[in-house]
Order: sequence, then C-alpha cells, then structure tokens
Amino acid sequence: MATITIFGTGNMGTAIGSVFAAGGHSVQHIDTDTADQAVSGEIVVLAVPYAALAGIAAARASEFGGKIVVDITNPVNFETFDGLTVAADGSAAAELGAALPQSKVLKAFNTNFAATLATGKVGENTTTVLVAGDDADAKSDFATAVTAGGTVKVIDAGSLKRARELEALGFLQISLAATEKVSWTSGFAVIA
Ligand SMILES: NC(=O)c1ccc[n+]([C@@H]2O[C@H](COP(=O)([O-])OP(=O)(O)OC[C@H]3O[C@@H](n4cnc5c(N)ncnc54)[C@H](OP(=O)(O)O)[C@@H]3O)[C@@H](O)[C@H]2O)c1
Repeated sequence: MATITIFGTGNMGTAIGSVFAAGGHSVQHIDTDTADQAVSGEIVVLAVPYAALAGIAAARASEFGGKIVVDITNPVNFETFDGLTVAADGSAAAELGAALPQSKVLKAFNTNFAATLATGKVGENTTTVLVAGDDADAKSDFATAVTAGGTVKVIDAGSLKRARELEALGFLQISLAATEKVSWTSGFAVIA
C-alpha cells in the first residue's frame, strides 16, 4: 500500500482522502496550520485553491522531486465567472508542471464534485476520475492507488495537454451548478 499526502482538509481533501483510505492506503493531510510538515507520500494531491499552487510548488519543488503530484484545481475567474484565469492554450496543471520539472505532474479529480467522490456515485453510475499526464507509469500507479478501494473508476484522458479540456469541463460543470441547473451532488458521468 502507498502513502498519499493530501494538501488541504476541505471538501475535496476530505473526499479524496476517503477514496484512498478505502483502498487501505495511509493518508497524510497537510493544511495551512501544519504547512511545515515534511511530505511522507509517494503520491501528493494538492487539494487547495488554485491561488495556493504556486506558493506550495515554490516551497516544495525539491521535496516533490520524483513524486507524482496531482493538481485538482479549477482555476475559475471568480470576478467574472465567465472563464478561467489561465492562458487560453494552457492550464493550471501545465503551469504546475513547469514549476515542478522534477515531478510527475498529473491533472485529476477536477471534473468530480466532492460529493460524488465521497459517495462513489453520479446518479446511478460509478464516479469516474479522469486523469491527464505525460508519464504513463505515473498515471498507472495513480489509477491503481485510486481504484484499490473499488469506490470509483479511473480513465486515462491523455497527455498533460488534455488538462486544458478537463479544466474547461470542470468550469462548465461548476457554472451549471452555480446557476442551479444541476445540484452540487451531480456531475458528468462517463459510460464506457
Ligand atoms: N469542491 C469541489 O467539489 C471541487 C471539485 C473539483 C475541484 N475542486 C478544486 O479543489 C480545490 C479545493 O477545493 P475545496 O472545495 O476542497 O476547497 P476548501 O473546502 O476551501 O478547502 C481548501 C483547503 O486548502 C487548504 N489550503 C489552502 N492553502 C493551503 C496551503 N498553502 N497549504 C496547505 N493547505 C492549504 C485549506 O486549509 P485551511 O483551511 O487551513 O486554510 C483547506 O483545507 C480547489 O482548487 C477547487 O477548484 C473542488
């Protein structure tokens, strides 16, 4: 079993922690109160606001070296609520990858509302986690760890370039929920 370090103990940090714990993995949580803790996990999940990513990456670049680092953020422009704050051809995950050249950066979980990770269900369907990244072994190790508990599925969405599409999908889902067209316990399901 792997050790997973999750930055953040909010909605997503808690829900993602439950997915890994269901698989028997040991989960270390780090939040702003415990930000001086050393990272013990081989897989690091950054379940923090987009605005916190750059600071964590700058402070931990060397410590994250060789590890799988998972970006789950939706970099929504909350001033306009009309798009993302990242470059039109870029993504938060691409920015993180550039800041962490020694790490295996993946994009995942951003298309899943927290409730659907906690329950493992989107309606009648099993929740599917879409993952993007450039390192095939890292994606495989990530998928093995996430699915060990059998609560959710994982589909490889392609290279880290696909993070752009995952972030667009995440934004669309948020805008539907924020305008009360769908609930925060809903989400896009993948029927394979
Ligand atoms: N909520 C969803 O359904 C959902 C779905 C998909 C993606 N996301 C993405 O997931 C991320 C987290 O969302 P959330 O809903 O879980 O937010 P949240 O409930 O507000 O939790 C954010 C967490 O991040 C921690 N944090 C902030 N800065 C930190 C730092 N520098 N170091 C360590 N921990 C730090 C906070 O710790 P303190 O409380 O100690 O400040 C808190 O535990 C966001 O990027 C969001 O876009 C959310």
